Amino acid sequence: MALKFIDEVEVQDKVVIARFDFNVPLDKKDLSKITDTTRIDMALETIKYLLDNGAKKLILMSHLGRPKGKVNLDYTLEPVATYLANKLEQDVVLTESCLDRGIKTLLTLNESKIILLQNLRFHPEEEQGNQEFAKALASYADIYVNDAFGTAHRKHASTYTINGYFKDKAYGGFLMKKEILALSKIVEKPKAPFVAIVGGAKVSDKIKIIERLIVNVDHLLIGGAMAYPFLVAKGFDVGNSMCTQDDVKLAKKILMSSSKSKVVLPIDHIVSKEFGGKPEICNTVEIGGDKMALDIGPATINLYNEKLAGAQTVLWNGPMGLFENNDYAKGTLAIAKTLSEMENAFTLVGGGDSVSAVMQSGLADKMGHVSTGGGASLEFIEEGTLPGVQALRFGIDLN
Ligand code: 3PG
Repeated sequence: MALKFIDEVEVQDKVVIARFDFNVPLDKKDLSKITDTTRIDMALETIKYLLDNGAKKLILMSHLGRPKGKVNLDYTLEPVATYLANKLEQDVVLTESCLDRGIKTLLTLNESKIILLQNLRFHPEEEQGNQEFAKALASYADIYVNDAFGTAHRKHASTYTINGYFKDKAYGGFLMKKEILALSKIVEKPKAPFVAIVGGAKVSDKIKIIERLIVNVDHLLIGGAMAYPFLVAKGFDVGNSMCTQDDVKLAKKILMSSSKSKVVLPIDHIVSKEFGGKPEICNTVEIGGDKMALDIGPATINLYNEKLAGAQTVLWNGPMGLFENNDYAKGTLAIAKTLSEMENAFTLVGGGDSVSAVMQSGLADKMGHVSTGGGASLEFIEEGTLPGVQALRFGIDLN
């Protein structure tokens, strides 16, 4: 069954309830300030479409952070409501809770066209995928829209269970469509040569995606702290670099597979005596002594650029080093620059940290697609779909 999107349905005079992923980072010192509004900005197309096409009321819903089923105003959606109101130049009414008695009254009033439900995760029922909670949310509206790609890997009440109450009335939003189309290019028959760059802290976090990718890629470039267990597995001394025995075991498993020749590892490093301390170049693969590696070195950057040359499809997930610190950001920024110049290739950046790095580099608009999903984009590549997407496509059986 094909997934239906909002441009395939008449929304005129309909009350629409729409799930977004407004889980945006806030300034730790001033929780009313959003430090990266990308996820809200990417949702605007769907919101504006619904308004321009005559939806009677728009009920927006999202989670923010992990308040663990309790009301905690550190996680209020108020900054999101303010930002949306400014962007849409319209009032956005924030409810006190998702089950507020006043919501039904708001729905009868002519004013208050846009209603934002307070953080879904103030209710434990959201993460439990509770049917009664989903039913209460569904009771507000005629149709359901899911544009929360970043949360589509969760089987929660507002992303999954709710579909059971909107048989043939559940639609994907434009961001959902964009993400699925882009990630499908990686999952289904990526154009060769296909190069994947995988970085980040732990092999165990990425083992599934590596096992999945290694079959289809021409080269798998590994960077970040993930590289050191691979180097240890090959018998190199990595000094004090981050490395657990469990990760070495997983790395060995990959290096014993029939695709092992596709794995490309750092040949030099930027090291330091302490985490985030004074940087030094280490010109050899072996680090040894009391040093730890915190970024890939210049020869590795050249090697990775050589492997990327001529690629038709590139997937990048995870930074090459401690990029939050300028002394150790060169490897990550070099990858961002190379990808931004690959005009003939389809480049996709997914995963929270590599996305932040691309944002930091100012090169996001030069990439083929920058996913708004962290865990969701990883799981989509691993599994080929997500529970929230499947529920939209096939509905769910309520028992
Ligand atoms: C994310 O930021 O990846 C999504 O908003 C999902 O959040 P969660 O990991 O807390 O479920």
